[in-house]
Amino acid sequence: MPQEALAFDMYGTLVNPIRIWTLLAQYLPDGAQHVAEVWRQKQLEYSFRISVMEHYEDFAWITRKALDYAIMAEGKQLSEAQKQVLMAQYNYLDRFPDVQVGLEQLQQRGFNMVVFSNGSPAMLTAIMQATQLDSYFQGFISVDEIHVYKPSPRTYQLVAQKLARPIQEVRLISSNPFDIIGARSAGMQATWINRSGGLFDTLGPLPEMVIETIPELANILP
Ligand code: LAC
Repeated sequence: MPQEALAFDMYGTLVNPIRIWTLLAQYLPDGAQHVAEVWRQKQLEYSFRISVMEHYEDFAWITRKALDYAIMAEGKQLSEAQKQVLMAQYNYLDRFPDVQVGLEQLQQRGFNMVVFSNGSPAMLTAIMQATQLDSYFQGFISVDEIHVYKPSPRTYQLVAQKLARPIQEVRLISSNPFDIIGARSAGMQATWINRSGGLFDTLGPLPEMVIETIPELANILP
């Protein structure tokens, strides 16, 4: 059996939160992609800030507040019904095209795999069903259990504890540099999936293992 357990980030890693712009474009024909990007950035910023404030609201609440901001920042207005449609769509985000093949290969190799996410249990249950991701994973671990967001070290420790593994035997796979840096800072292994061809953060070193698609992992991991 492979030694490491694999913990996959959800948003940006397995499913694409920016592609929701295609739905946004029905309401906002101009600038939908930009709104989707601001929505995502603000969602993460709010999750960091609320954690530093030692306060907690679940990720659906955070996501809705970030949507309100992104629309306002664009100088636009949407109806409550339109916002509810967008929030519902967040549970039907598109999988990245390499996900199925990659997860099948890893599953065949016998890896113990979980989803590890800021997403609330209701969000993760819904999206794993809608995208048929649940057959690849043993389940999900939501930070909701401890009411603090990534990259608090407590979130990475939670994963190791739930998997009953020493933290250095757990590997995070994430496209989010802040998540990779947080995991390594807490003592977890980490693989950055560079989905956007973008820059890594300067707050921590680039991890040794960098990939562009999930099937690469199945070949690289011992
Ligand atoms: C998650 C966010 C960080 O799924 O993408 O946890």
